[in-house]
Amino acid sequence: MTKPLLRVLAGESLFPPPVWLMRQAGRYLPEYRAVRAQAGDFITLCTSPALAAEVTLQPLRRFGLDAAILFSDILMLPWAMGYGLRFAEGEGPRLPPLELADIDRLDAERLPAAIAPILETVRLVRAGLPEAAALIGFAGGPFTVACYMVDGRGGGEFPRTRLLAHGEPGAFDRLIRRLTEATITYLGAQIEAGAETVMLFESWGGILPPNLFRRYAIAPAQRIAAALQKRFPAVKLIGFPRLAGALIGEYAAVTGFDAVGMDTATDPAVAARMVPTTVALQGNLDPMALLAGGDALARETDGILAALRGRAHLFNLGHGIVPETPPEHVAALLARIRAA
Ligand code: CP3
Repeated sequence: MTKPLLRVLAGESLFPPPVWLMRQAGRYLPEYRAVRAQAGDFITLCTSPALAAEVTLQPLRRFGLDAAILFSDILMLPWAMGYGLRFAEGEGPRLPPLELADIDRLDAERLPAAIAPILETVRLVRAGLPEAAALIGFAGGPFTVACYMVDGRGGGEFPRTRLLAHGEPGAFDRLIRRLTEATITYLGAQIEAGAETVMLFESWGGILPPNLFRRYAIAPAQRIAAALQKRFPAVKLIGFPRLAGALIGEYAAVTGFDAVGMDTATDPAVAARMVPTTVALQGNLDPMALLAGGDALARETDGILAALRGRAHLFNLGHGIVPETPPEHVAALLARIRAA
């Protein structure tokens, strides 16, 4: 029996749709906070296979979701290439703001040894996975990873990154190319270790103007998808071009992903018209509707289910779960979807 999530990635429409949630493992779960405290810091948690596998599986035990997503972070790729990374408590990631000379110091040779514990997590999760659930591996889109490297922190504006992309296109091309090649290696290794599909989180691609979006979000994704499809023709791929707006259709058509994620602001009925029908859609409940619960959650959930009925659809959020979310609201969401 093929797992429901993989059936939808192969183009089948299931109703009710399979469901998993971005950031389904995380601080909103008391059992996550306990393991996180045991690990000490976040990078230690990501590089401790037994603990990372445990937190990956926690939300599946609690809610019976259709997929597990590897517990790691998109910034573990630059970390594995020797780029400084720390997670300041309560403030998010901090990296040394990129200098041009850093680009050629990114060390792909370190990658295999540095990602070994993450691949071990993949193996452990795959071995402990409920039968009907699929394992999703992931990486950040090269542009999104570059945003955190160049600006050194999150925030959503990334002025240094945007200036570099316009002002030093040669250097920025080199940075994106290096990250793209490393991402292919990294995702390929996750697939070999047991990931059944992989997702590329291009969370900030949509802050670029269209021509740069094509160059730094679409083209690298196309290259990553083509390289993985060549090596692993049976493995389906998911892309998440957050904030892509009207370019979601072009992103889907050009990259060749099997599914694309819709962000919270995307009208699913509109996306369904723009994205080729051979591509599944993933999303896109507002994480704030999940936080609110009650009628708002029911109404928004029903609207998305109705808009995409008949279409290959993976139910998800439009962005990650917020830490304040009561776990009971996630249980209520799953009950609502499965009773649809
Ligand atoms: O459950 C899952 O979704 C799997 C694990 C996962 C994490 N981060 C764990 C995490 C995944 C898939 C990510 C992706 C990620 N990380 C993205 C892309 C998706 C998105 O949200 O747009 C980005 C941009 C990052 C970078 C990042 N990591 C930020 C901005 C932060 C700080 C924000 C926050 O919530 O604290 C992180 C930290 C992080 N990554 C946490 C978790 C569970 C919180 C760390 C903690 O426990 O203190």
